[in-house]
Amino acid sequence: MDIIKSLHWRYAVKSFDPNKNLTPDQVERVKDGLQLTPTSMGLQLMQFIIIENQDLKNQIVPFAYNQKQVADCSHLLILCRKTHVEENDILSFVERTGEVRELDNQNPTLLNYEKMLRNSLSLSIEQQKAWMENQVYIALGNLLTVCAAEKIDACPMEGFQRAQLDEFLGLPEKNLNAVVMCPMGYRSKEDKYSRVNKVRRLKDDLFTEIK
Ligand SMILES: Cc1cc2nc3c(=O)[nH]c(=O)nc-3n(C[C@H](O)[C@H](O)[C@H](O)COP(=O)(O)O)c2cc1C
Repeated sequence: MDIIKSLHWRYAVKSFDPNKNLTPDQVERVKDGLQLTPTSMGLQLMQFIIIENQDLKNQIVPFAYNQKQVADCSHLLILCRKTHVEENDILSFVERTGEVRELDNQNPTLLNYEKMLRNSLSLSIEQQKAWMENQVYIALGNLLTVCAAEKIDACPMEGFQRAQLDEFLGLPEKNLNAVVMCPMGYRSKEDKYSRVNKVRRLKDDLFTEIK
């Protein structure tokens, strides 16, 4: 697989084929990619909502300024961050690390890591939000690359009313805020954007190389 060829193949799909759905296997690959996204200190302070239900997708369209990708896609992914870091986020992470790495809960390395986490997380709510949101965008980047490699069409979207969508989906009660969404599926043959050339700045302009 040539990853650069795949990145040329992908584009932000404006029009999906509403009659073509992703297979459960493809959805699983997408989940694998998101699960494997690296996050700061490994905490994964995010949640991914995958919506296949057509009624719900239709109801979300108005929150996304009527962008119809939201309704016509096979699966609508909403990438959320936590509203704030909770004590349990640290505890469950430390517990999971102990489990996976087979360390008992008094293991000094684990206890030191927990201490380091607590020290690093003394951030204001605003700092926490920005920090967690940046990591959701890393997940989005990872997702888009996985989709390209798997020949899954996608459209990254931040053109939606975050606060209103949060309320509609009852996210604040779950300590979550939507950051960005990504409809996934198959491009429609009618999508004219599949035929236009990619616009990117020239490498000479984009890179500074210091040798
Ligand atoms: C964070 C982010 C938000 C975006 N929001 C939207 C959006 O709301 N609607 C849309 O149609 N495209 C959206 N796009 C797609 C970009 O316009 C597109 O990726 C860019 O023009 C480059 O084109 P390409 O992805 O087709 O190569 C978004 C892309 C990113 C990365």
